[in-house]
Amino acid sequence: METVATPAGLRARVAEWRREGQRVGLVPTMGALHEGHLRLVDLVRTRADRVVATVFVNPLQFGPREDLSRYPRDLERDRALLEARAADLLFAPTVDAMYPEPVEVRLEPGTMASRWEGSVRPGHFSGVLTVVAKLFHLVGPDVACFGQKDFQQAALIRRMVRDLDWPLEVIVGPTVREADGLALSSRNRYLTPDDRSRAPLLSAALRAAQRAWRDGATEAAAVERAAAAVFASEPAVTVDYIAVADPNTLEPVATVSAETVVMVAARVGTTRLIDNAILDQPIP
Ligand code: PAF
Repeated sequence: METVATPAGLRARVAEWRREGQRVGLVPTMGALHEGHLRLVDLVRTRADRVVATVFVNPLQFGPREDLSRYPRDLERDRALLEARAADLLFAPTVDAMYPEPVEVRLEPGTMASRWEGSVRPGHFSGVLTVVAKLFHLVGPDVACFGQKDFQQAALIRRMVRDLDWPLEVIVGPTVREADGLALSSRNRYLTPDDRSRAPLLSAALRAAQRAWRDGATEAAAVERAAAAVFASEPAVTVDYIAVADPNTLEPVATVSAETVVMVAARVGTTRLIDNAILDQPIP
């Protein structure tokens, strides 16, 4: 697997593949890779001849009081993991290579981005969409893959591709979980042993929401109450939101259906975790 660190190097490599008529797939990441990311590589590999993975901790998507400086970085480990999954190219630029000048023009999403994660992390999705747009321009992928764990992010990227007529397919890979239900996340490594023992509460809350729906609840408020009751059992975990929403618009719904998504965000100690589930897709 080759590694390139500059936008020009990336473009040149991908251009060769294009000349040969190969389909190119893209998996953008911020590194600190785990099995969830690596399955996205596997998934893209089924739809493309070449797989480009990117590792870039994007400063534009971190708020002033967020974890940009302590976000885990281990490029050598990431490189070895991607190589073992047969990615073809790793793009790992520096901040200066990606943003040689202060960014003047960004993508500005609408209300879909101001709810849920957006209300807790103002400007976050503008930063995500701006860097994803840059990566789409640099690679020109036929297919790009994102994880379901960041449900709102994936929905916004799908919407950006539609709104801006981008000629590529966005696919969303399933959340990979620990045996006790905790969704894999690069931020799980911040959890102390006590926090780690509480962290499966998020998936337990989602399971409770799914159970309420399976038992016949039709009102979103009832589904939300079922999830809230699980959080209420553990005062050391602080809920940011429990969203019962339409999976495409992310608007809250009054009445649920099989496709309704439940998204939760909570602080476990000093670590903020998110998770989600579609009502008719039982999580283990
Ligand atoms: O999901 C992530 O890791 C990031 O938000 C992404 C999509 C790589 C953009 O920086």
